[in-house]
Amino acid sequence: MSPRQLPVVEFGAPVSAVPRGTPAADTPGDSRLVEFRPETRVLPAFFVWTLGCQMNRSDSEEMAGRLLASGCAEAPSMETADLVVINTCAIREAAENKVIGRQGVLARLKTANPGMRVVLTGCSVRTSNRAGLAKRYPAVDLFLRPDEEPELIDRLGLASAQAPVGALAMTAATTLVKGAEVSDASHLVRARADAIAGGAVSRGSAISAWLPIIYGCDKTCTYCIVPFSRGPERSRPFDEIVAEARALAAAGYREVTLLGQNVNSYGHDLAPEPRFAHVQTQRTVGRAQDRTERPDLAELVRAVDAIRTGDGAPAIPRLRFVTSHPWDLSDRLIEAMAACPSLCEALHLPVQSGSDAMLRRMGRQYTISHYLERLARIRDAVPGIALSTDIITGFCGETDEEYADTIRLLETVRYDQVFAAAYSERPGTPATHLADDVPADVKRRRLVDLLAVQEGIGLERNRAWLGQTANVLLDTVVPLRAHSHDDEDADEEAAGTTASRDAFAHLPEGMAHLLGRSRESKLVHVAAPPALLGTEVNVLIEHAGPYALRGRLA
Ligand code: SAH
Ligand code: SF4
Ligand code: F3S
Repeated sequence: MSPRQLPVVEFGAPVSAVPRGTPAADTPGDSRLVEFRPETRVLPAFFVWTLGCQMNRSDSEEMAGRLLASGCAEAPSMETADLVVINTCAIREAAENKVIGRQGVLARLKTANPGMRVVLTGCSVRTSNRAGLAKRYPAVDLFLRPDEEPELIDRLGLASAQAPVGALAMTAATTLVKGAEVSDASHLVRARADAIAGGAVSRGSAISAWLPIIYGCDKTCTYCIVPFSRGPERSRPFDEIVAEARALAAAGYREVTLLGQNVNSYGHDLAPEPRFAHVQTQRTVGRAQDRTERPDLAELVRAVDAIRTGDGAPAIPRLRFVTSHPWDLSDRLIEAMAACPSLCEALHLPVQSGSDAMLRRMGRQYTISHYLERLARIRDAVPGIALSTDIITGFCGETDEEYADTIRLLETVRYDQVFAAAYSERPGTPATHLADDVPADVKRRRLVDLLAVQEGIGLERNRAWLGQTANVLLDTVVPLRAHSHDDEDADEEAAGTTASRDAFAHLPEGMAHLLGRSRESKLVHVAAPPALLGTEVNVLIEHAGPYALRGRLA
């Protein structure tokens, strides 16, 4: 069966639907009006459940946008939806288990609502594992690879002349990644352009926006599923990105995050142009790459920063990018970071391990000394910059000494934030040829110990803010606790929300408990009038925890 003939989801006639062409009770009985009568078929109410990284969140905004543009309404919950779209993450087994664990609940919802359909997309759907998906996810009706998401509307039979936002038959080409067949994914760039032109991106926030600039990943990290689920790197055209940023500025967005698995390699796959003749970046580590006369991230950041208001201030006051791979972190980018006032003083630079031997097994293509040299240069260029990283504990063959190297690295660099996880073997990745030989309890203990070390460092970094003023973009009103939920409790504990809630228990009239991020990406709790939501305020920091700050309006 070719992909085009995948079972198309049919929506059974909803009970409340009025058959097409039947005059509704309140329409005048003029037969000449029949053909002008609006469509009376009831469209499904959808709910998108998004797991994983910012890329998935951005993709979900596009899927929700396409569904809204085709006339569907958004349901407030999975329980009330007729169409559930699950945007999965496959980075670790635990992320996949969350979705597998919900199959029973979904099956029960389908029994109660026989018209309900479930679509599963995101990184758990790959060409190589397609055959086994129906068994793993028995409640799912339709599986779409990440690059097939633009087809969602067509596959569901929801496309209409009013909303040409589907994109059937764009995804035929495939390519090989380490012998595995993956989508060529070059159509994603056009699909995004269509979605933007058709107004089919439903952004989750009116304050901060995601802006995808490059899809896929060409790197060689042996543990990682992303190159297999997302395909090769595909950069969006330079002018389209700048135009989208300009539209976001005009719509009043205060913060834009340029997105990609590796934003630092932006542009290498675009055609050379004379206007980029001055771009001559050479990689100093990793596979060689010809970047001559092609735009790079530095060029892009400068162009977005150059979008100014009448008084010369950056029209988007806060610009960020994520994620950066150390092998593409050029001097040109560091210079742009120092030169552009809108670029926030925060950088996420995943290191994964503090041991060179381990980095080699991981296929990361840089050494710790290269990584530290880059950090020194960045700290020099952008004083006070906050640094964060990703770490994997217990990767194949990790010795006590290699683990100790990682702890030593954390103590040397003193990151503001560390995202760490125990290694989880992913099917089809090169690391499956290595022995996953660190026992689960050792991986776990190393993770817990590492996080404990980092908690002390994070607290110390945050305490340096006491008595200082942070510029905070307020984006959340923290509700009074209405109910208790274990997961939420854990998240809130980490964000310092529980403690702050107590501190803000007796607020004066007209004040609310608001939350936002500083330019350095610190979570900051503050009591402020809710009308300040969406604005940048100065907060005098009075309390520091390991994961968040608290203060009062300065
Ligand atoms: N493209 C980004 C990160 C993508 S995944 C980058 O390279 O920086 C986010 C993080 O998940 C990675 O940085 C890594 O620390 C972690 N990760 C990826 N694969 C993993 C695996 N198999 N087991 C555990 N953690 C993993
Ligand atoms: Fe995965 Fe490495 Fe690509 Fe990041 S750079 S997405 S860790 S392969
Ligand atoms: Fe997960 Fe895919 Fe992102 S595997 S981390 S959702 S790119």
